Amino acid sequence: MLTIFFKDAILPGDKTSRDKTSRDNNSTRECAVTSPDAIETYYRGQGLAERIFTALTDEGHDISRLTPEILAPYDEFHVGGMAATQRVAGRLHLSPSHRVLDIGCGAGGPARAIAAAHQCHVTGIDLTADFITTGTRLNAACGLQTLVSLHHGSALDMPFGSAGFDRAMMLHVGMNIADKSTLMAEVARVLVPGGLFCAYDVMRVGDGEISFPLPWAPDASVSAVETPDTYITAAENAGFELLSRHDGTDAAGAFITHVIATKPAPTPGQPPDRFRNLAVHIESGILAPTELVLRKAG
Ligand SMILES: C[S@@+](CC[C@H](N)C(=O)[O-])C[C@H]1O[C@@H](n2cnc3c(N)ncnc32)[C@H](O)[C@@H]1O
Repeated sequence: MLTIFFKDAILPGDKTSRDKTSRDNNSTRECAVTSPDAIETYYRGQGLAERIFTALTDEGHDISRLTPEILAPYDEFHVGGMAATQRVAGRLHLSPSHRVLDIGCGAGGPARAIAAAHQCHVTGIDLTADFITTGTRLNAACGLQTLVSLHHGSALDMPFGSAGFDRAMMLHVGMNIADKSTLMAEVARVLVPGGLFCAYDVMRVGDGEISFPLPWAPDASVSAVETPDTYITAAENAGFELLSRHDGTDAAGAFITHVIATKPAPTPGQPPDRFRNLAVHIESGILAPTELVLRKAG
């Protein structure tokens, strides 16, 4: 099955955060501060675990014997799904002794995939409490509860001691975090000297208007898309050095083809489908899924 960004059947409620913000829908303006409440309101989806279990049962799976591969169409909330997670894992040169941090872990799909593949302990943190509840149930359903632990909290103020992780990753989260400087400083704080961090976000790579909705934001109020250079400057100021940078536009080809083929074309007066809108932005060279591999000095 082709893994897309979010499997449609279990998509968290398509609520907007208009009740918590004063921004217009379809605005092209980016907000300097993204409100944690508005972000959680957008992402939360009560009953997500039940919807995943129901969908998998309907597909003929035994939900008492799940694996990250079976769950992948439902719990990898980023362009490229599990293949992209494996790519990120490869950039981190993982071994079983590594303590890995997944920042903005969502329902824990990437954390489970990496823990199962590399037998390392993965700690996840996410702002959306529903994802942590769901992810904890999915950990147990995969028998991965001793290798994966998920916590509710903000990437900007993580409840972890300094230098407690050997590796960190962040998949499609920075688009919701305006304060890249604090984000990078927090990641640097919790990593050991010499620790590696891979950020895989959708970044601005070309000129042109960004219109909404996009999968991570119904409007500009919760979107904080930035250029790779902005990430790199914030990372370098926090004590990272850039090891490599990778444009994922080609790797996103399957996502684009699938979305353009399956999502409705825009109709006058209606907002576009958010996944199709992302595909259009990637195809037109305004946005690109981008990986940055960073090493903390030391
Ligand atoms: C598009 S989802 C990606 C989830 C996961 N990384 C994955 O790839 O499956 C973005 C996630 O970022 C989380 N998030 C946004 N801002 C955050 C913050 N300041 N701290 C922690 N998590 C945050 C959201 O709650 C959401 O789960």
